[in-house]
Amino acid sequence: MRRRECLRRGLMATAGTLAAGPAGRLLAQSSAATALVASSSLREVWPGQPTPVLTLGDSFPSRTLRVRRWDVLDVELRNDLREPTNIHWHGLAAPPEDDGHPMDVVPAGGRRAYRFLVEDPAGTYWYHPHPDGRTASQVYRGLAGFLIVEDEAERALGLPSGAFDLPLLLQDRRRRADGSLTYAPTPMDLMAGLLGDAGLVNGAPQPVLDVAATGYRLRLLNGSNARVMRVAFEDARRFEVIAGDCGLLEQAIAATEVWLAPGERAEILVDFSGASVGRTVRLVSAAFSSGGPGMGMGGRSGQGAFLPLATFRVARPGPAPTRLPERLATVARLDPARASARRRFVMDMRMPPGPGAFTINGLSFEPDRVDVKVERGVQEAWEVVNLSGEPHPFHVHATQFQVVRRSARPLQPHERGLKDTVLVWPGETVELAIRFERHAGLYVLHCHNLEHEDAGMMLNLEVS
Ligand code: C2O
Ligand code: CU
Ligand code: CU
Repeated sequence: MRRRECLRRGLMATAGTLAAGPAGRLLAQSSAATALVASSSLREVWPGQPTPVLTLGDSFPSRTLRVRRWDVLDVELRNDLREPTNIHWHGLAAPPEDDGHPMDVVPAGGRRAYRFLVEDPAGTYWYHPHPDGRTASQVYRGLAGFLIVEDEAERALGLPSGAFDLPLLLQDRRRRADGSLTYAPTPMDLMAGLLGDAGLVNGAPQPVLDVAATGYRLRLLNGSNARVMRVAFEDARRFEVIAGDCGLLEQAIAATEVWLAPGERAEILVDFSGASVGRTVRLVSAAFSSGGPGMGMGGRSGQGAFLPLATFRVARPGPAPTRLPERLATVARLDPARASARRRFVMDMRMPPGPGAFTINGLSFEPDRVDVKVERGVQEAWEVVNLSGEPHPFHVHATQFQVVRRSARPLQPHERGLKDTVLVWPGETVELAIRFERHAGLYVLHCHNLEHEDAGMMLNLEVS
């Protein structure tokens, strides 16, 4: 029954896009569901201290999935946890039934299929659970993984691939004496979000990554619960930013750092070819003042604290790096002047961090109330305002948007492509150009600080 239902959905999704993608692949894919079991298992996050973590696909962090654009993503989730969970495909415009709405969960011991056509362009997406009130805890304990979409146009660019394409999941965790990932936020954590004092890369604390002396494509994902990262190399080496949240920029932009809020991604090309074998360079989150109360540079682990992430060690010579084409992609841009509807979202919070303390437009999440109604095909101009003293990453499901302007800072290089999450600093206003086109149904928008999200900084969004 479910199987047939899913199939029908898959076919319907294809019908609208026959012109754009080869439909034949749908059937070829339909029998190959990837089984992902959510379970608890023992791992050594810190050496010598085995501890329970949560795994998906028997992997910590969760298994990296790769899918081609116009293929059907076909995943069977089995929930072996003792609590409800689900999967949200962050950045992809999935049909509402497959999007992992916070109320659409798989109970403990249950299973379900996620099955939909991947219509979005090549890019570094990710997946994680989204159950109402439990997202922060489940992601913290290990449930998050890359979902990499590939396509022909991108492949034709000849970017570094295979061993030279490194997805790096950047997270912070609190180092506890027993080496565990116990999720136990304090009242202060519930306010600012849980900030760790140790950097993890792909689940390992400050790993050493052996590389060849050549060019690498690094896919950076900030999968932290609350930490904004100012990602840079300790020797301030330049790199090329080639992609943001949802795929390639039109042109590479040279930079020495990239600011990533929880949920955001950037892809960079870094060239180790000038380095002699044995040379090391650290990837860090550099210190910054976040402009909020109690969160200056002083704290050992507060927002803006310096955090080492990983060390690259040049272990062997490598081939000469390939030259980057002048033009990477055509980004389907919206003309901000063309908007025919305007909306404003005010993010705010008040003390103490109890029920109703974290709001968007004065509202905190109510499962049965629809807060925002948008119509497909209508281009809108959104203004996102942060009245609080904490940074808030504003994230929208069901579509990809473009950042038009920020009131306090210039646009970052990775903000020049399509996005699904944008950082709004204290006191800042960010303007977005946005249009929903794909599926009608119920979605959410929310703050991607996971403690804020779980505390209700989230609204129901209905697309019609
Ligand atoms: Cu990555 Cu609604 O979230
Ligand atoms: Cu999302
Ligand atoms: Cu927030």
